[in-house]
Amino acid sequence: MDRYAVVGNPVEHSLSPVIHGEFARQAGERILYEKLLAPLDAFDETVAGFFAASGRGVNVTVPFKEQAAKWVQRLEGDAVSAGVVNTIVDRDGAWVGFNTDGVGLVRDITVNQERSLEGRRVLLLGAGGAARGVVRPLLAQNPAELTVANRGVAKAQALVAALEDWARETRCGACALDEVTGEFDVVINATSAGLAGRGDLLAATSVRGAFCYDLVYAAGAAQTPFCAWATGAGAGAVSDGLGMLVEQAAEAFRLWRGVRPATAEVMALLRRR
Ligand code: ATR
Repeated sequence: MDRYAVVGNPVEHSLSPVIHGEFARQAGERILYEKLLAPLDAFDETVAGFFAASGRGVNVTVPFKEQAAKWVQRLEGDAVSAGVVNTIVDRDGAWVGFNTDGVGLVRDITVNQERSLEGRRVLLLGAGGAARGVVRPLLAQNPAELTVANRGVAKAQALVAALEDWARETRCGACALDEVTGEFDVVINATSAGLAGRGDLLAATSVRGAFCYDLVYAAGAAQTPFCAWATGAGAGAVSDGLGMLVEQAAEAFRLWRGVRPATAEVMALLRRR
């Protein structure tokens, strides 16, 4: 059986084995998908060891996505500009790094949730690895406006400066989180503030009536801190990132196996868990 794994630290609670197990069942593919705990200072050795032991592909999760971009021999697709890798593919003996997070996010918003991003005013919170991983696919949807807001404004400015070549009709701007003004149609949280329980990242007026999306997901029926705050602040609708998780996995599965699995059934299964 072909072996795959998700590498992270921690990795115990990863849903990826369940998701890929379902995809494989659905597609009639026989694969083995494991969790691989890498010591914080030994990502390279852990992944190299997995491939040496006939591993065929790897998903990368926190905190190794930037390290993975350095470790691979080549970057392709969105990983090139993002410098962040969540999927490694063995292409004829070369380790190639991809980023499927952005495609997963856009697919969850536009296909699963049937919300167009074209012509919309989009506010992206955060300018770290997670934000860099999704920003180009967001721009490809041709929003009217893309504002990147970060606690430290210099990082937001650097991210936006790197985007200029990709923006077509989109007006791009950068500012500090506490300086966000104006109204938005879509607000996407790509900060890691939720890990520390923080959801109140900006003025309530900026999310009023907006569709608010959190890249992270909450277990069971709970809301993420950002979704809970946005709901209270008068957001038009909120969504956590469970759909994105399933969609980025589907894209990784396609890169590995050449088949794009259907996602609705898996999403329903995870929501019931
Ligand atoms: P990730 O890979 O999750 O993006 P990262 O690259 O360390 O992790 O980036 C974390 C992001 O969350 C950054 O945009 C960070 O803002 P700063 O660049 O100003 O540090 C943001 N972040 C983390 N904790 C935050 C908090 N309590 N409030 C607001 N933003 C926060």
